[in-house]
Amino acid sequence: MTQAFNHRIAASLELRKQQGLQRKIVSIEKGNTSSLVRNNKEYINFSSNDYLGLAADKKLAKAWQKGIDLYGNGSGASPLVTGFSSAHQALEDRLCDWLGYSRAILFSSGFSANQAMLFSLLEKQDLLLQDKLNHASLIEAGMLCPATMKRFHHNDVNHLSMLISGDELANSLPDGAMSRLVVTEGVFSMDGDLAPLADIAEVTQQRAWLAVDDAHGIGVLGNEGQGSCHLAGIKPQLLVVTFGKAFGLSGAAIMCDEMTGEYLTQFARHHVYSTAMPPSQAYALTQAVNMVATEQWRRDKLAELYHCYDQQLNSVSGYQYTPTPIKPFVVGEAEQAVQLAECLKQKGWWLTAIRPPTVSKGKARLRVTLTANHTKSQVSKLACELRSLIEG
Ligand SMILES: Cc1ncc(COP(=O)(O)O)c(C=O)c1O
Repeated sequence: MTQAFNHRIAASLELRKQQGLQRKIVSIEKGNTSSLVRNNKEYINFSSNDYLGLAADKKLAKAWQKGIDLYGNGSGASPLVTGFSSAHQALEDRLCDWLGYSRAILFSSGFSANQAMLFSLLEKQDLLLQDKLNHASLIEAGMLCPATMKRFHHNDVNHLSMLISGDELANSLPDGAMSRLVVTEGVFSMDGDLAPLADIAEVTQQRAWLAVDDAHGIGVLGNEGQGSCHLAGIKPQLLVVTFGKAFGLSGAAIMCDEMTGEYLTQFARHHVYSTAMPPSQAYALTQAVNMVATEQWRRDKLAELYHCYDQQLNSVSGYQYTPTPIKPFVVGEAEQAVQLAECLKQKGWWLTAIRPPTVSKGKARLRVTLTANHTKSQVSKLACELRSLIEG
């Protein structure tokens, strides 16, 4: 009996290896800036999600240090016990003010925010509709929650509309007895493309609630970096923002109305039964929101870098245009992507090969990410290198 786990673990690991999909965790000396040091060798880092260059920003670090001086180290408890401080309250207030919502419920990660949102809201008779390429945290919660989940083709509003209409025809439950929730990312993490949010909002209107996970759009898109929804001119019932990317820190919030906020406070188990983020972190995050909102030069710099990347690579096979800092360079087979990343690594460029199951088979890629800390010359040199490796 006790051998079953050993056999299962060994067999799964062997299969991963045979499929060429084994991943390795690498320990690096410093990876949160545009350069990265490993084993005393320096690389230019095109793999982080630190889009606005805040992860190693000195002003933000000072704010975190001040937060520690003011509040000490950990929060000491979950939010409903004694873990929720005035620093958390100030962060909630600032987020609400910035994004135009009444409540912001804080979580320690985007993964837990997404899971909490789906697990706490959905019941057995409900229908959950998700974009096929939504993040693992959303798809997994959708599979495990009691509602019926259907996935619509990526960014396909007609398919989404058909699924809603089909459910309207099939469902004889009285109005109010069941709910539909549509969930999409604002910017897709592996493709860097935008969801057609205005069209999705139109299709869902009066027929479903809409939740947008804007992990990769918040801070980067829209006026003051208010994200994909502001850019599209919509306000979904639920907006998930995460702090591990453009904000340079970690954590997340679900933005919602007063009553939903109260409901999540009562029933979102990842919020209720988990230690609140350190108050010093909440303090630093408020500073990060201020920097994101006011330091437009970071977004302007990104726009310059996109232009440079596009100009150099748009005729090269594998290049894909995106209006975001995520630039997928699609290679095809997993092995080729790994080889290309390895070749680039030897020349001092750090890029991660993304393989199935993270992306679909035949769509393995390099996920090039640009940050406000990169220089035009770095982007230009990377593009030249990529071009010569592909074109020979
Ligand atoms: C779209 C999306 N949502 C949620 C998450 C999870 O966020 P976190 O890293 O804060 O757990 C990620 C992380 O990569 C993501 O890409």
